[in-house]
Formats: sequence, C-alpha cells, structure tokens
Amino acid sequence: MSKKTTSGNPATTRRNFIAGAAATGGLAAASTFIPTRFAIGAQAPIKVGIMLPFSGTYAKLGENITDAMMMRIAQAGGMLGGRNVDYIKLDSEAAPPKAVDNATKLVKGRKVDFVVGPVHSGVGMAMTKVMKKAPKTIMVVPNAGANQLTREACAPNIFRTSFSNWQTSYPMGTELHKRGHKKIVTLTWNYAAGKQMADAVAQGYSDAGGDASGIEKLWVDFPSVSFQPLLTKIAAIKPDAVWVFFSGGGAVKFVKDYAASIDKAQIPLYGTFVTEGTLQAQGAAAEGIVTTMHWADTLDNPVNHKFMADFKTASGRNADVFAVQGYDTGSLLLLAMAAVGGDTTATPEIIKAMENTIVEGPRGPWRMSPTHNPIQNIYLRRVENGRNVILGVAHEALEDPGTGCKL
Ligand code: PHB
Repeated sequence: MSKKTTSGNPATTRRNFIAGAAATGGLAAASTFIPTRFAIGAQAPIKVGIMLPFSGTYAKLGENITDAMMMRIAQAGGMLGGRNVDYIKLDSEAAPPKAVDNATKLVKGRKVDFVVGPVHSGVGMAMTKVMKKAPKTIMVVPNAGANQLTREACAPNIFRTSFSNWQTSYPMGTELHKRGHKKIVTLTWNYAAGKQMADAVAQGYSDAGGDASGIEKLWVDFPSVSFQPLLTKIAAIKPDAVWVFFSGGGAVKFVKDYAASIDKAQIPLYGTFVTEGTLQAQGAAAEGIVTTMHWADTLDNPVNHKFMADFKTASGRNADVFAVQGYDTGSLLLLAMAAVGGDTTATPEIIKAMENTIVEGPRGPWRMSPTHNPIQNIYLRRVENGRNVILGVAHEALEDPGTGCKL
C-alpha cells in the first residue's frame, strides 16, 4: 500500500476517482474502478484490524459485531472499493491495561488500514493514544460509548457507529421523571461506561425538572457478577425504581438475580443494554424491563427485517444492537472505500466520505455528527414475550453535544 504510482496532479486525479466512483453508481460499480495512481498497491488486500472482546463477559458482543460486519461486506461482494479484505482479529479481552499494546500490534505491527473496535469504554480511551499517533489509520468504534471519544478526545481519524454513553441514557432520566419516580437507585459496573450512563440518567432527570438528589448511585466492580449484597441493599432502600447498566454475560445473571430476589411489580427495573442480546438466556426474568436504546428488534423498516433474517441465517443467533452496529460499520467502510475507489492513502477523502454519508441501516437512516458520532433516535422499549417491544421514541434524532471536540 505504501507503493503508489503517480499520474499527473494528485489532487486532480483524486477528485476524478471520487467523481468516477459516484458516476458509476456507488458500491458495486466502484469495485471495478481501479485508479492508475495506486494500481500496484491496489493489488494488495485492505487490512481491517478487529480489536474486540472474544472472551469474557463481553465475548458475545464482539462476535456479533464481527459477524454482522463481515456479513454486510460479504453481501456487497466481499470487497472494499474493489479490493479484497484481510480481517485481522485480536481479542481485546475488554482489558484497558492491554489496550495500548494490542492497538500498537495492529497499527504498527500489522500495518492495518482500519481498526474496528472496541466494545469497552476504558479500552477505547486507551486506544486513542495509539490512534492519535497514526492519523492515516482510521478507527471505527462499533460499540464503546466513552463520551470523550467524540468529545474532548476526538480526532479526525476516530469515528463511532454506535452511541455515546450519554446518548443512550439521558432520555431514560426524562422518562423516569415523566413516570413520577422520586426515590431512584442506579446500579452499574464501576467504570467509565456505567458512570457516564448513570450521570446521564441523573442529568436527564434533573433537566426534566426532577430532584436528582433523590437518586442513590450503587456500584460493583467490572466484571463482577456478585450482585446479591447490592440486591439486599436495594430491598432495604425500597426505591420507587431501579435503573441499571449491565451487558453481555453479566446482564444475563443480573436480570435473573433481580427477578429471584425483588418483585418487579413493587420495584420496577429500568436499564440500558441490560436486555440486549440476552433475552433468550434471561427468559421470564426479563419480562417487563423498560430500556432506552437506539434500535429494537421490532423496529419496522425493510432494512431491519432483512438484516435480522440474514443475520439469523448467517450466524444462527438472533440479531441485537451489537450486530446492528457491526453491520453499520461494514456499510461505512463500504461507502468510504467506494468513494475513493479503494485508495487507502486518500485519508482526507475517506474522512470526508465518512463525515458526509448517510448510513441506511437497521436502525433507519442516520448520519455522523460534526464530532463523528451517530445522530439517532433513542427508543423506549419494554420486554414483552421475550422481545424488546418499542413503546415510542424517547428522544428523536438525539445528538451528543460533542463538548470540547475540536476537529
Ligand atoms: C462500554 O464499555 O462502552 C460498553 C460496553 C458494553 C455495552 C455498552 C457500552 O453494552
């Protein structure tokens, strides 16, 4: 990829690629369009590093993101901008202390063109140190919600196809206030994602006119599933409502433990992510849980219907929001590489394409905010008969404020 042939004025030539790709009708047509300027490099596959958890409590999240992204690209012909793709998978273990080494292995060691990852907010924050020193390598975050990634730690080469932690949970604060809950307990894993989501719930509650001093925040270390002492505490506090953030394997156990020791009719359970991709394993214990999320399996649009059916066929598993984020990551890579005819050296144009595109995904059409985070609807959902059923739109076209980001 470092080898390239130059023909004429590079700026003019590059403009022509983009015009050419567009004129030939987007993705499929772009796959046959190989500009001469980088014809030698174009023979080599594009390298997509995948830094996601494939072990531990978030393992299923990593698998669904990966499978859905690969499915999306395979469905479009298996190429990015007319070039084959090498996927290089690395287990992040959702471990922040290993994140700099792991990201360095992909960026410097394997010289990837794109890094897709991570799931865990703490891993994401550590990775920015590597990505800021590698401005030609594009990071696409398919889950980690750390607010800073698209706020003060933003960078031209960092994009997110998922959500900010704030975005998922701010509308829940509004909803809790609307429902008249006054004595509220929040309980999450004690790391950036849980803290930022719990803060957003409190902010939404107080912005809606509630008194956030009535919210008691409880914590448990990540990725502990020793929930019993906390459930005993909640039973003693007797709040009007409980809101939690847990995900993956930990969410399965929490929801079962809650149902076994607390009557949901007395103390209703609200959450973010806690019923996502876990409903089959949680069974009856999940019924009635109300969540906010940027997707639901009952979302009625043709892309979602096809995506859910295709993902089930391809993976044997039910789709979830993590698969949605992986799928949309695949779409973003396809669109960006089609725009530059596969030229991975055209970094400014790739960035521009990612900034300006509208992704037609299972959650409906969405676009990037100026700080590279999706602007998207947040839905209010309730578990009914083993499905996250949409009750309504909790917040339409919600945009993370992007505070402190200078691009
Ligand atoms: C995060 O750490 O940012 C995170 C992890 C799992 C989720 C959501 C957010 O389901």
